[in-house]
Amino acid sequence: MDIGYINGRYIGLNELAVPIEERGHQFGDGIYEVIRVYNGKTFMLNEHLERLIKSGNAIKLQIEHSIDDFRKLIHDAIAKSGEKDCCVYLQITRGISARNHLFPNVPVSISLTVKQIVPLQKSIRVNGAAAILHEDERWSNCYIKSLNLLPNVLARQTAYEQGCFEAILVRNGMITEGTSSNVFMVKQGKLYTAPLSRHILAGITRMAVKKICKQVSVDFIKQSFSKEELLQADEVFITNTTSEIVPIVTVEGQTIGAGRPGEVTTKLYHKLQQFVADCKE
Ligand SMILES: Cc1ncc(COP(=O)(O)O)c(C=O)c1O
Repeated sequence: MDIGYINGRYIGLNELAVPIEERGHQFGDGIYEVIRVYNGKTFMLNEHLERLIKSGNAIKLQIEHSIDDFRKLIHDAIAKSGEKDCCVYLQITRGISARNHLFPNVPVSISLTVKQIVPLQKSIRVNGAAAILHEDERWSNCYIKSLNLLPNVLARQTAYEQGCFEAILVRNGMITEGTSSNVFMVKQGKLYTAPLSRHILAGITRMAVKKICKQVSVDFIKQSFSKEELLQADEVFITNTTSEIVPIVTVEGQTIGAGRPGEVTTKLYHKLQQFVADCKE
């Protein structure tokens, strides 16, 4: 059963729970994480929680809870939901206080949802997806998993309206990432992705792909590439927690490689399934 939780209380997803003067609601003043659960077990939970703390520190959130408190909260919520294949969405905001830009002296608000996974459309898994290129209009601290997602939302909607699955973002002519994914290209058997910087989120799936590349002897090269290089790639794929590895076969209407999911992408996808089965908490 899909469930919600806020500040110590389990609630139904449609139950009214957040006061108007909540800083997540008023300012988007908070951070979040999305954690995948396979067969009742969390995947790379420590990495997600470390990133959560890093995001919290970056926006000066006074979080009194420890990583272990969050781990327990997440495991309890999964058990309560009874779901086996689901996603946990965890959100921390700067709390509930009269609207004022200055930090209030109140406890943070912690909320989460546990929701059944909506599987990626089979045709996308089999045939790949289309993407557009879009100017990266976000701020310069994209390594923070902040609630402020307006530029991501607008770019993704533009992609959708053009019949595309994702918008691949371009900053100064170079590919950064997708609106909710990291972006990879394969060229002559080698895998390229943007190096970690303030301009991209350090994806947990990206981290898993890096580990897998070692196992299958594919070079994982952290090097920025231009939109022109992307269009000339042999293969392109995107990664995130909910969709894992998604092959991209057209960008801006131009065919990538052979126009179907490539050999390296497919190999990494299968290896990721194995990695997921072996590596569960
Ligand atoms: C902007 C952005 N980049 C990358 C990712 C991929 O991160 P992860 O693999 O941890 O889900 C996400 C995930 O939602 C994202 O929002």
